[in-house]
Amino acid sequence: MKTPFRTNVLLFVISITLAPLCHAFLRPAAVPEGGDQGTELPAGENPGAHIAHGENDSYDRNNPDLGRLQQSNEALEGMPLDQNGKVDWARALREGAIKPRETLTGDKTYLPLDLDVIMRNTKAMPFVRFPHKTHTEWLACSNCHPAIFAEKAGTAKIRMEDIFRGEFCGRCHDRVAFITHKACFRCHSVQQPGGVPIP
Ligand code: HEC
Ligand code: HEC
Ligand code: HEC
Repeated sequence: MKTPFRTNVLLFVISITLAPLCHAFLRPAAVPEGGDQGTELPAGENPGAHIAHGENDSYDRNNPDLGRLQQSNEALEGMPLDQNGKVDWARALREGAIKPRETLTGDKTYLPLDLDVIMRNTKAMPFVRFPHKTHTEWLACSNCHPAIFAEKAGTAKIRMEDIFRGEFCGRCHDRVAFITHKACFRCHSVQQPGGVPIP
């Protein structure tokens, strides 16, 4: 199961996660009609005033060229969003909003593994459904096995604390994959009898 190309897929995930920032550096906005370089702002105007809040918090608002940068909400327009209003990259891939190359050469050399692992050590929270399918669309087995997880369901003893500290699922989630804090039910997605209901 050695698929070195998949590292590039992970890098792609990282790069699309940082896309707003990268685009910002790579693509100057169109120079306005009649303007010279488009860098002069009327006195007293906050250069970041036209940039929406939220997704754009990563911009340096004191940069004098801020007004020329492509806005991330423009780059991310039309992407499917999760309940928190953040881009849902798993859906974006499924729905074809993004079409990353699977390998450098373009040959398909692997198949995603369609295997869900239900994790039940969740106290009153709904059980966790870990979908191999979504993960192996982005990642090689070796990104997780054997360093993070044994290839045997029920081996890992995971507490949320560990995840928040960057262990287990937290190696990627909160970093290059979706944020855990407000997205409990994306992982805790299997209702258990008498437990906390899924909203
Ligand atoms: C990235 C996936 C993921 C997200 C998001 C997530 N969890 Fe978890 N959670 C897990 C996993 C995995 C376990 C361990 C399950 C097991 O070992 O059977 C767990 C276990 C738990 C447990 C039981 C263990 C403990 O630490 O007490 C609680 C309670 C819990 N989660 C609450 C939450 C809450 C509240 C949120 C949202 C703030 C949340 N989780 C978000 C994956 C997630
Ligand atoms: C994103 C991380 C991740 C990736 C990538 C991944 N796995 Fe897993 N795998 C897990 C987790 C988490 C478990 C459950 C471990 C546990 O419960 O302790 C698991 C469990 C397994 C199991 C045991 C299932 C069972 O019912 O006992 C097998 C087999 C497995 N993985 C094979 C693979 C193969 C083959 C690939 C590549 C095609 C792969 N995994 C990719 C995270 C991953
Ligand atoms: C090696 C990196 C990595 C690890 C470790 C990892 N994930 Fe993920 N996960 C991803 C990536 C990449 C995605 C897809 C991008 C996104 O949704 O942000 C993803 C997406 C998901 C999704 C969305 C599935 C969908 O189809 O909408 C769930 C649920 C999830 N992960 C749960 C977990 C749980 C639970 C664990 C730990 C048991 C875990 N992940 C560990 C990288 C990882």
